[in-house]
Amino acid sequence: MRMIDIIGKKRDKLVLTDQEIQFWIDGVTDHTIPDYQSSSLLMAIVLNGMNNHETKALCKAMMLSGDVLDLSAIHGLKVDKHSTGGVGDKTSIVLGPLVASCGVAVAKMSGRGLGHTGGTIDKLESIEGFHVELSEEQFVQQVNAIGIGIIGQSGNLVPADKELYALRDVTGTVASIPLIASSIMSKKLAAGSDCILLDVKYGDGAFMQTLDEARELATVMIAIGQLMGKQVNAMLSNMNQPLGNAIGNAIEVREAIETLQGNGPQDFTTLCLEGAAIMLLQAKRVESLEEGLDLARRQIENGEAYAKFEAWISAQGGNLTVLEDLDVFCRTRYQADVVADASGFIHDMKAMEIGLCAMNLGAGRATKTDSIDPKAGIVLYKKVGDSLTVGEPLATLYSNRPILEEHLAQALNAYVVENTPVSSTALIADVL
Ligand code: URA
Repeated sequence: MRMIDIIGKKRDKLVLTDQEIQFWIDGVTDHTIPDYQSSSLLMAIVLNGMNNHETKALCKAMMLSGDVLDLSAIHGLKVDKHSTGGVGDKTSIVLGPLVASCGVAVAKMSGRGLGHTGGTIDKLESIEGFHVELSEEQFVQQVNAIGIGIIGQSGNLVPADKELYALRDVTGTVASIPLIASSIMSKKLAAGSDCILLDVKYGDGAFMQTLDEARELATVMIAIGQLMGKQVNAMLSNMNQPLGNAIGNAIEVREAIETLQGNGPQDFTTLCLEGAAIMLLQAKRVESLEEGLDLARRQIENGEAYAKFEAWISAQGGNLTVLEDLDVFCRTRYQADVVADASGFIHDMKAMEIGLCAMNLGAGRATKTDSIDPKAGIVLYKKVGDSLTVGEPLATLYSNRPILEEHLAQALNAYVVENTPVSSTALIADVL
């Protein structure tokens, strides 16, 4: 087999065989195929697409390019979730303990973030002592003991994706549904759970700009998961404004705690309850979404969800005493309010701009090697649909580096204010 023939086939819009895809991924993994040939094939895939069978073959070859976790020693059905990423997305920190407190095993592998704010692991590591470096054996033991564990992505999980993603990033070949779907699903499948909930976001702060694109990506990922024998569902959720009110790391942990205690923002609480209901139904813990919603609500009200959070953080080395005073936990050297410069109603918030502002305050990484200020970030007081009067605070910026006029201007610039009232848009557009 020759790589040049495989590239030519995709250039001519032909369907690749499983063997051809396997040949490519083997060569990517053992570095026998040069980057220029992989880049060429990637671009042909971006332009000419792949059918679901090819996408599944790509996903499977990538999944098998490295370690695959064996979670069979964990009792019962294991559930996992994945978000395609957005601004203020701390959903896993609530969904994990909430679902585990209902008696369903949550075994999750998470990543660090690049850009905007940190990933789930960066957020959790803002709790002193919390660590994600568990061996497979420790991970399995912990999930069996307390029902939940979150670990970092192991060094040899889907090495082909690490190679290809780095190449896609610099060759303009990220934006392709088969490439995104196989990249995400190969990692989720290698992480070993039986059921996967995908939170596919669309809008300004997301990978997918429109609901139609998010639906298409979700449909392909569900099809791949099903072909691989997994139970996969997806929520399509709106990322045209940040999720909840907190964007950062420690301040997102704080918002997650408040949500687990029943005092979270309404949009974020709704997403967590709906997500929990789907995961409980996937794991056959309940027989309907309504029953799942009721159970999840009860677990928040009766304190079980928060108790599970504490057990989990403590099992992974987190110092719970630092969470006793959340004001101290989130305190930074500098704070500054973003103040409304007009009166009216908020019609839109550019989620990406808010995310970039949080990053500029220190909450995210512009490059892989940047370090994060765990306490930096933004707390929003107003969101789409709210009214505002000139001089009113819209948000507070937090940082351990001096906050500049340009940070305040960037945050203010994210708000689109008009004179006419407007209602807020639904957070969850659909569940597949
Ligand atoms: N996230 C991934 O893991 N892979 C992609 O291709 C896009 C987003």
